[in-house]
Amino acid sequence: MEIRFRDSACDRIKSDLVVIPVREKRLDDPAIRALDRGLKGHLRARIGKTNFTGADGSILLHPTGDALPAACLLLVGIGGGDTGSDTWRKAGAKVRKEAAAIGANEFAMLFAPENDPESAAGAIVEGAALAGYQFNKYRSNGKPATEVKSLTLFRSGLTKTAGLQKAVDTAQSTAPGVFLARDLVNEPPSVATAKFLGAQAQRACQGRGLTVEVWNKKKIEAMKLAGLVAVNRGSMEEPRFIHIRYRPAGKARKRVALIGKGITFDSGGLSLKPSKSMETMKLDMAGGAAVIATMSCLPNLGLDLEVTGYVPTTDNLPGHNAQKPGDVIRYLNGKTIEVLNTDAEGRLILADALALAAQQKPDYMINLATLTGACMTALGTQVAGIFCNHQPLADALLRCGQEAGEKLWQLPLVKEYKELIKSSIADMKNIGGAHGGAITAALILQEFVGDAAWAHLDIAGPAFAESDNLLCPKGGTGFGVRTLIKFLMSL
Ligand code: BES
Ligand code: MN
Ligand code: ZN
Repeated sequence: MEIRFRDSACDRIKSDLVVIPVREKRLDDPAIRALDRGLKGHLRARIGKTNFTGADGSILLHPTGDALPAACLLLVGIGGGDTGSDTWRKAGAKVRKEAAAIGANEFAMLFAPENDPESAAGAIVEGAALAGYQFNKYRSNGKPATEVKSLTLFRSGLTKTAGLQKAVDTAQSTAPGVFLARDLVNEPPSVATAKFLGAQAQRACQGRGLTVEVWNKKKIEAMKLAGLVAVNRGSMEEPRFIHIRYRPAGKARKRVALIGKGITFDSGGLSLKPSKSMETMKLDMAGGAAVIATMSCLPNLGLDLEVTGYVPTTDNLPGHNAQKPGDVIRYLNGKTIEVLNTDAEGRLILADALALAAQQKPDYMINLATLTGACMTALGTQVAGIFCNHQPLADALLRCGQEAGEKLWQLPLVKEYKELIKSSIADMKNIGGAHGGAITAALILQEFVGDAAWAHLDIAGPAFAESDNLLCPKGGTGFGVRTLIKFLMSL
């Protein structure tokens, strides 16, 4: 999709589809008045006959019958509240879908945001790009998404600034990363094995500052990644440990570690899940997918940061050699965990990766994991929980999540609850009590990060959309990629 900026009035712009954002109950907008002069009052008359008010998400399509250079007008309601990036992202998505529905492969949108034009432009382009995602490779009648060739943002007197161009470029570099993360999650679990994820990381993250190493089982054992070995014991598939590094051309100002849970299918292991709970458990590598995808975007962003991605990956199955409730894992930092529930496996493999990442003494460590059903119970399917031992990092991530349109809510690391993870024979056990499961899981992870500034995003809810929405069809959402990119760019 090519993005253009044009200095033009709305009754002069030539396009298959000209889009006018309309605030709720502001139908006397100067843009509408100007268009109506060319249309001899037909637009106002038409609005009067419909119930279009500019309410958020409402639309009105109006063919001009060649009375204007635009073939068709589309009024999109943007509601009466704050017009922040969420509004513009949704408007961009809505417009792309309408354009596709009428077969317009280029469209022009009036661009006159009340504030923060750079963020608005980035959000419109991001929304328009994200709305084009489909995962059709397993349908016999899958049609490719209708392509949008170009999107023109216009207004009288509009000039393209370096800031606008950068916002648009960033949105266009981010969307393919989000799509990669969605694809990796949507792929069936017997295809998306640990080995497959390793190969995909190698394919997507090679060159221009990126290097990938994929460790096989022998190397994983030699590196003493005991949690990954233990969880993998019930599987016929080999585990992998994916290590991706980005080094800038010049000197790095900061070093960041990104760690993602890569359980390619979570059956629960011997602590087997009921079949209904397993239906979507291919999603359990969404954190790892977000890390691989974010890393793949870095060469296009040109940041002077060193970023390392760590993705421990295996499935969690109850094969004949599976780990048993009661087993104890000894980690490379010397700590031990008694496994009382093999379904609390994410923390077991993340512990290895966090300990390994902490050895490098990064400035920030951020892990993403579909870790607990408890987090989903607390925050629902749209909001990720964030746990953090360093409030400035939490504040930065919360702000980036907000700008990126990915909802985060901070939950507390309640140190008193460490009582709940005490084991009778080891340093800790892998499950807490009946309540506060998202917190006890986070407390276990915290034992492995040393004194690094660390944040844990529990993305169990928002990693997977249960039904289609404007920005994403049912399935993997790519949650986390946009926030991580915003965060890295803000450092
Ligand atoms: N992968 C699941 C968490 C999950 C549940 C993600 C639903 C997305 C949707 C995780 O490995 C798990 O099974 N957690 C258990 C922990 C419990 C055994 C302490 C859970 O949440 O029930
Ligand atoms: Mn589990
Ligand atoms: Zn899991």
